[in-house]
Amino acid sequence: MEVRRMEVAILSLFPRLSDLRRAQPVTAAVISLGRARPHLYHFYFSAILRRAASATRGNHVSCAVHLSYHLIYQLIYQRWRAGMIGENQAVPPSRRSREAMMNQSGTEVLEREAEAGETVGASSALDPFAMEAAESAEARRRYDPAKLRELVADIMVAWGYTRAEGYTVADVLGFADLHGIDSHGLQRFQLYASQMGNKIDPHGKAEILLDTPVSRIIDGHRRMGQLNGVDAMNACIEKARTTGIGIASVRRSCHYGAAGYYASMAAKQGLIGISMTNTEPIVLPLYARQIFLGTNPIAVAIPADPHPFFFDASTSVVAYGKVELYAKQGKELPGTWVVDPENRPLTDSADALARLLRYNNEAGIVPVGGNTEYTGGHKGYGFSMLVEFFTAIVSGGATTDRTAQGDPVNGICHAFMAIDPKIYGDPEAVKARFSEYLDEVRALPAVPGRKVLVHGDKEAAALSDREASGVPLYHKTVSELRAIADGLGVDWRGALD
Ligand SMILES: NC(=O)c1ccc[n+]([C@@H]2O[C@H](COP(=O)([O-])OP(=O)(O)OC[C@H]3O[C@@H](n4cnc5c(N)ncnc54)[C@H](O)[C@@H]3O)[C@@H](O)[C@H]2O)c1
Repeated sequence: MEVRRMEVAILSLFPRLSDLRRAQPVTAAVISLGRARPHLYHFYFSAILRRAASATRGNHVSCAVHLSYHLIYQLIYQRWRAGMIGENQAVPPSRRSREAMMNQSGTEVLEREAEAGETVGASSALDPFAMEAAESAEARRRYDPAKLRELVADIMVAWGYTRAEGYTVADVLGFADLHGIDSHGLQRFQLYASQMGNKIDPHGKAEILLDTPVSRIIDGHRRMGQLNGVDAMNACIEKARTTGIGIASVRRSCHYGAAGYYASMAAKQGLIGISMTNTEPIVLPLYARQIFLGTNPIAVAIPADPHPFFFDASTSVVAYGKVELYAKQGKELPGTWVVDPENRPLTDSADALARLLRYNNEAGIVPVGGNTEYTGGHKGYGFSMLVEFFTAIVSGGATTDRTAQGDPVNGICHAFMAIDPKIYGDPEAVKARFSEYLDEVRALPAVPGRKVLVHGDKEAAALSDREASGVPLYHKTVSELRAIADGLGVDWRGALD
């Protein structure tokens, strides 16, 4: 809120809408101040605002300038004292998009906002993702991934699974934890424990409903999503090896974790891997008052050097797990992640999560692009519809709005694809061209304080760090795992001390 008020204070120095372009460097300066210390803000601001005062040549303006200056300085200073501004602070995403829009036409944006009653720039957290990383590094203890794998297998065996099945589930979850996908690693285990024997059928056996040289449709019979997912992707890989392409869709399954695991299974074997899943309903189609879509992630992994290209993200502005993670940490939601039925952003993570979990349309996550057409919400909404087609429609399973209905529950649907790059010619040449291209993108000049990454770079960095130093788990996740193990008489000591 303070940033917003600072911006309003500065814009008030430039009273006509036509002055907005002149105001822009000043507002940009406010934001870049986060990279400096408060005493530098003092001199920096002083210079900018004195120049503004002399340019306008009026005593009353000069007075307003100095009052605004003191207000702004105090706000920044208080924020710094409260530890909310650090050396690595950057412009929050919503501010960046606002500025990008102002570059095109500041007047138009402000008029549109006024018309639509929108809050494009309201965000109280400065670069939430950087803050999350900074906090989590200190807050979490590291654990040995090999011991965690054994513990998961022990718990799975206690639930009635074979040890091999236990390792399969452990590997999918461990992949997420090792690659920095914290929302879909072991912190998901609590969900599986709560679904075991009701949504998840521990005795379920998958059934092949249709099989062609290039495709397979499977009824997952409410087996754990990881078991259905690994079997389905293995079938795709086998088909791709013989025909060049393999496609599978699974209906009546359960939560399968990070979509990227399955895409990576193919990439590890030199193939292009694709995976997607629908979920339980939690996302609002653009402008709808009723949640109807899932967070519906799409993952694509493509062989490249020094590591595969790895795109793995939900088609909603955030995954549900991230809202849960923020609530676990007691942090405010930044920007527009969750909205109420009036399309107003909710920022209290605990309140937003509680509303989402009541499943009665008190709140919904918005699609990628946000809650308006101006920000591109219709595009994320479209990606999500594609996921529904390839997962639920083709398999005859439940679309997201119906996944949680039925007794037994209808369940979730997934889709998998593997493509052998041989169908494009020499796979090594394709890989070399792509790797070169990715390096060109990485080498692009970046905005100050940032680096151009490509998809998969963060995960590769997390992997080398976590393989060497262990997996950082939130203490709440550790308590949950210990309680699950205790309830089953499984010894967690050694893995979770
Ligand atoms: N099973 C389910 O029901 C379900 C539902 C939703 C999401 N998920 C999983 O949750 C996980 C997290 O999803 P998310 O939507 O939070 O993803 P996210 O917002 O963390 O985005 C991750 C993707 O963006 C890339 N990326 C991040 N920063 C980048 C940068 N600066 N430049 C280039 N690329 C960058 C990463 O490499 C990765 O491909 C995924 O594994 C997804 O499959 C699962």
